[in-house]
Amino acid sequence: MPTAFQSPSHTEPMPRHVAIIMDGNGRWAQGRGLPRTAGHEKGAEAVRETVRHARRLGLECLTLFAFSTLNWQRPTSEVRDLMDLLERFLVDELPEMLQNGIRLVAIGERELLPAKVRTRLEETEARTAHGKDMTLVLAVSYDGRRDLVRAARQIAELARRGELLPADVDEAQLASVLSTADLPDVDLLVRTSGEKRLSGFLPFEACYAELHFTPIHWPDFGAEALDASIAEFARRHRRFGMTGEQAAALG
Ligand code: FPP
Repeated sequence: MPTAFQSPSHTEPMPRHVAIIMDGNGRWAQGRGLPRTAGHEKGAEAVRETVRHARRLGLECLTLFAFSTLNWQRPTSEVRDLMDLLERFLVDELPEMLQNGIRLVAIGERELLPAKVRTRLEETEARTAHGKDMTLVLAVSYDGRRDLVRAARQIAELARRGELLPADVDEAQLASVLSTADLPDVDLLVRTSGEKRLSGFLPFEACYAELHFTPIHWPDFGAEALDASIAEFARRHRRFGMTGEQAAALG
């Protein structure tokens, strides 16, 4: 069952794992008469600020939806700009990640990424693997259904080889073959820009998550907006199917 923990800098219960669908870069730019790329660039700054603040708050895990499988359908030039931004982010942020004990993990179909981005992601994962203070997960070329299908194939293959019986497959076993295997369940899922959809983001992992939809476009997100999302989480009463009294008794 997902749990909340008390951050050293927060008196309210904190989520262990926050996942964010970063939406609204294009609308932010269009509203200012700027090209969509300008929205993505400002969005990358919002990523920096949000990661920094999450680390300051003592969050255990932050997952950001940086690029979905469906995003490959965007114009080639926009895809290229997003890939360039991602690569630049990884290069620029490495020293700060190392300094702040941040471990970077990428989920998604990395084999579909341009070689230079994939290599950079894998180098960053290797260099930051010992980071103990926060896990930053970047979902890149990610789609939750596809990850579930891949996991189901892996289970079928284990069964075919006689290494697994049908009765061995339970929630924990399935979780162990997802790309998010060693991460805690998502406690709080945030989507920016007023859209109220999950868009294939972490369907298994965020099953019991609290959802927070904010009208803020991603480029305007940052420390204050993350605080507001976490404050909203702290106001929710998570009961996990129990009565209010039972849940309160468990703390
Ligand atoms: C959604 O906005 C956002 C994306 C598809 C990409 C998210 C990428 C970034 C925030 C910047 C790069 C990422 C990192 C990790 C450095 P949209 O373009 O769909 O906005 P719209 O719905 O208003 O068009």
